[in-house]
Amino acid sequence: MIIGGSSGIGLGLAQALVRAGTEVTVVSRSGSRLAAASRRLGALDHSGALVRTAAADISRESDVERLFQEAGPVQHVITTAADGTGASGPIATIGVEGAQGFLGTKVLGPWLVAKHCAPYLLPGGSLTFTSGIAAYRPSVSGSVVAAANGALESLAYALALELAPIRVNVVSPGWVDTPVWDTLAGVDRSAALAAMAHRLPAGRIGTPADLAQAYLAVLCNEFMTGSVLHIDGGHRLV
Ligand SMILES: NC(=O)c1ccc[n+]([C@@H]2O[C@H](COP(=O)([O-])OP(=O)(O)OC[C@H]3O[C@@H](n4cnc5c(N)ncnc54)[C@H](OP(=O)(O)O)[C@@H]3O)[C@@H](O)[C@H]2O)c1
Repeated sequence: MIIGGSSGIGLGLAQALVRAGTEVTVVSRSGSRLAAASRRLGALDHSGALVRTAAADISRESDVERLFQEAGPVQHVITTAADGTGASGPIATIGVEGAQGFLGTKVLGPWLVAKHCAPYLLPGGSLTFTSGIAAYRPSVSGSVVAAANGALESLAYALALELAPIRVNVVSPGWVDTPVWDTLAGVDRSAALAAMAHRLPAGRIGTPADLAQAYLAVLCNEFMTGSVLHIDGGHRLV
């Protein structure tokens, strides 16, 4: 189950899993985004039996509880959901609603997922959250984003102990070319991304496919828990 799987990094992971013949449930809020994701994944699903979708808001406890009750047993749960609306800017300009919205999707939401998914996880199951480079290289005007990503990693460490033997890990992406940059990158998206790429040791921005490989490694490695896997093109070094 990929919560946030209708776009960007989560959709890239869903595509990799479906290509590998794995059953996937893609979760997000918007019915139209879910339908579009279902069409894209359906084109890879030759059996027609691998892809399901479910609408839920990760920040609402009733939604999360219902999601797992209706989905039943699940092997791996991954969260990539994030809604950064109104969460970036100089601190004086950020409203409590914008801050709560981002913290709701990145910290409270994963906490609710942990609370409600545990009874449904199959033996050998795992929980994987998505943090981000902002925890290590905060941008000016990125106080909420930095705090949420850092808090999420601490949450994962605590849950790796409390929910053991369920494995709890985090994938921390650097800059990845997804629809979030359609608004964040400003008017000249490709120039902005090229300039960002130039700053990285890898010399390029990440792709959802780069990240999918990392999630697959985390899901498959039964000795990995309480860890953060950084896939950032070397961003933490510069
Ligand atoms: N892209 C980057 O450069 C980058 C860098 C560092 C970290 N990250 C992290 O990587 C993760 C994925 O980012 P992305 O770039 O792939 O983002 P994205 O393309 O905007 O996808 C976000 C997904 O989350 C879903 N979502 C948003 N709010 C939700 C909610 N309340 N409940 C359930 N689903 C919700 C969205 O669908 P709906 O709108 O339908 O709900 C969408 O499917 C995020 O946690 C982000 O912070 C990304």
